[in-house]
Amino acid sequence: MANVKKAIKISKKHLLGIQDLSIADVNFILSEAKQFIALNKSKNKKLDILRGKTQINLFFEPSTRTQSSFELAGKRLGADVMSMNLNNSAIKKGETLIDTAMTLNAMHPDIIVVRHQDSGASNLLSQKVNCAVLNAGDGRREHPTQALLDALTIIDRKEKIEGLKIAICGDIVHSRVARSNIYLLNMLGAEVNIIAPSNLMPKDIDKLGVNRFSDMKKGLKDCDIVMMLRLQNERMTSSFLSSNREYYEYYGLTPDKLKFAKDDALIMHPGPMNRGIEIDTNLADDINKSVIKEQVELGVAVRMACLKIFCE
Ligand code: CP
Repeated sequence: MANVKKAIKISKKHLLGIQDLSIADVNFILSEAKQFIALNKSKNKKLDILRGKTQINLFFEPSTRTQSSFELAGKRLGADVMSMNLNNSAIKKGETLIDTAMTLNAMHPDIIVVRHQDSGASNLLSQKVNCAVLNAGDGRREHPTQALLDALTIIDRKEKIEGLKIAICGDIVHSRVARSNIYLLNMLGAEVNIIAPSNLMPKDIDKLGVNRFSDMKKGLKDCDIVMMLRLQNERMTSSFLSSNREYYEYYGLTPDKLKFAKDDALIMHPGPMNRGIEIDTNLADDINKSVIKEQVELGVAVRMACLKIFCE
């Protein structure tokens, strides 16, 4: 791994969304990420590719997987990584996102990783700083590294994405994971089924080139991949659900509903999961069907690739 090739230039300075990437960019990121999978399983995980570089993680929303994997990714590549504790920052005194960004920019970071509750926040930030910005999730808009790690997980298990039938099910309207995955899976040649109750389905979903379903069994028919989504209660301004029990009955992934997908269908979930509401707890842990832990594992490799590419 010490001889990892210097990255060829990607077409963008920042990673703000899948929509900004070309298919060549995506293939380049995924091929770089593949190189890190073995390293992350080895005893010595430390490289010096980003030695001397400064990475700032700026998470305005809670995160376990994305923040910790970006931090580990930066450290494994040898960067100096600072994760801001926003509960203990000047944000609490009323400082704005832009003033915070410009303050940090004055310290000459090489890369800022940002998660924010507002759609477009990472784009705005990228216009105010000199360094590269990686979007770790902005409102309902995009979560590009999640879609990239989902694609890498699918390729790792199915050896391709083109021609697969992939169902994305649940709270689509509030989900940046769904949006980034729709863009990426379409780009890579999958057929995408979107399954949701009418009040959790975006009105303009048809424009995204997907098949829309309200009946989960119909939507899952012959699917290769079943991607479940979290109910984003923090983004619901009014009551979208009559009850968790009713949601589970119609839209929770259960062994009965999974039978409609292909026998070798894989189960995915970006996490965090609401067990017993979005997904049967035994299915979530079924090592023959669920790749949820692999998604987390490959998330580190994808974020190492993104830091390497956009930091150079
Ligand atoms: N999938 C995902 O973004 O998880 P976190 O909120 O834990 O980062």
